[in-house]
Amino acid sequence: MADDSTKTAPKKLFIKTYGCQMNVYDSERMAEALSAEGYVTTENADEADMVLLNTCHIREKAAEKVYSDLGRLRPLKEARPGLKIGVAGCVAQAEGEEILNRMPLVDLVVGPQSYHRLPDMARAAAEGRKTVDTDFPAEDKFDHLPAREKPARGPSAFLTVQEGCDKFCAFCVVPYTRGVEVSRPAERILSEARGLVDRGVRELTLLGQNVNAYHGHPGGLGGLVRDLAAIEGLARIRYTTSHPNDMDDGLIAAHGDEPKLMPYLHLPVQSGSDRILKAMNRKHTAEAYLRLVERIRAARPDILLTSDFIVGFPGETEADFQATMDLVRSVGFGAAFSFKYSARPGTPAAERAAVPGAEADDRLQRLQALLTEQQRATQQAMVGREVSVLIEKPGRMAGQMVGKSDYLHAVHVTHPKAKPGVIGRVRISASGPNSLAGIWLDS
Ligand code: 5AD
Ligand code: SF4
Repeated sequence: MADDSTKTAPKKLFIKTYGCQMNVYDSERMAEALSAEGYVTTENADEADMVLLNTCHIREKAAEKVYSDLGRLRPLKEARPGLKIGVAGCVAQAEGEEILNRMPLVDLVVGPQSYHRLPDMARAAAEGRKTVDTDFPAEDKFDHLPAREKPARGPSAFLTVQEGCDKFCAFCVVPYTRGVEVSRPAERILSEARGLVDRGVRELTLLGQNVNAYHGHPGGLGGLVRDLAAIEGLARIRYTTSHPNDMDDGLIAAHGDEPKLMPYLHLPVQSGSDRILKAMNRKHTAEAYLRLVERIRAARPDILLTSDFIVGFPGETEADFQATMDLVRSVGFGAAFSFKYSARPGTPAAERAAVPGAEADDRLQRLQALLTEQQRATQQAMVGREVSVLIEKPGRMAGQMVGKSDYLHAVHVTHPKAKPGVIGRVRISASGPNSLAGIWLDS
């Protein structure tokens, strides 16, 4: 930029990221977009010239939390009136203009599809003009965001390949906040991936709200995975989050014969009751999910499966809940997230009568106990096994390093060769509550 701002001291940008991995990726891209305006990121909100809250709206109270976080920024803004405050992400999309009405200290509100307009909005803010952009523009924001120039921060990176969702599960705000499904062209993804690998990235996690609905490659997500696997230096590929109905044969086959595709799959099922699945508009049965799991395991027997569950969906009876517990017992998950249903305004389920809170709490506890037991058993079964570990960063103890196994378990090791970005063979020696310990064998 020829603009004077880049010649003076850099402006500092603080981004707080809520919610999913896609927001983590978006925050990185927003920082890159604003670096063209002379902003460098800081970890300290107190010294920032701009604070951006990259928000999430998936579950209840998200908007209220954002408003209370904004309230907490008030003293900062009073102390330094030049401070610019922005709200991005799904709460920005859902609330729009309302944020400016309720929080006059906010300078800009930008929805997830408009991040490429941030530099203009930052300039407007500098001139004292407030802006709101929550359009779903026809252009692809990624075409308008600057190419990724910054050095990658670690050996593992996120890469968004598609956004939005057409599934309209009855409880979910994503189709409203992120819009309909849009896939990025494979060529763009491949060139971004090559750039990341040149900067030391060894593992890519492909992101999308409904990532396996990806259709920017004639071979779908499986085809994209195979093309990415051909990139020299890229060692590992993962993807998240998937819908069971979009697990096609090509993708399942890739799990069987593409060694760079890691043996890990997050496959939300939400419920084990056909009645509830129907009410949720999930468009598959529990049996179909179980059969799908069989096919995936036939391709890759050691795959670690994780899932998402909602308990207390409107109309859920104890028998429905037991069907969920049965499904969990038959699959055996390596880990899972479980949530108490929360009504999201504007979604079809929000109109329906809720399950009493105490009952839903009780179900959540029972489900979480079972899932924790399965997680422990899965981790325990790793003890004695050899896995590959991609070292990411120092651990908490002196000399110790931590990385991720093929199965996405955090693994602690101590060895001179265990440096960030190195992939080594490790024998798992112990399992703790949330991570494993291992002995370095080679690299
Ligand atoms: N209530 C509770 N959980 C929800 N999720 C999405 N919407 C809701 C809601 N209204 C959960 C689903 C989804 C995960 C990302 O969040 O399990 O898979
Ligand atoms: Fe939401 Fe996922 Fe359902 Fe799409 S498939 S509506 S993102 S829960």
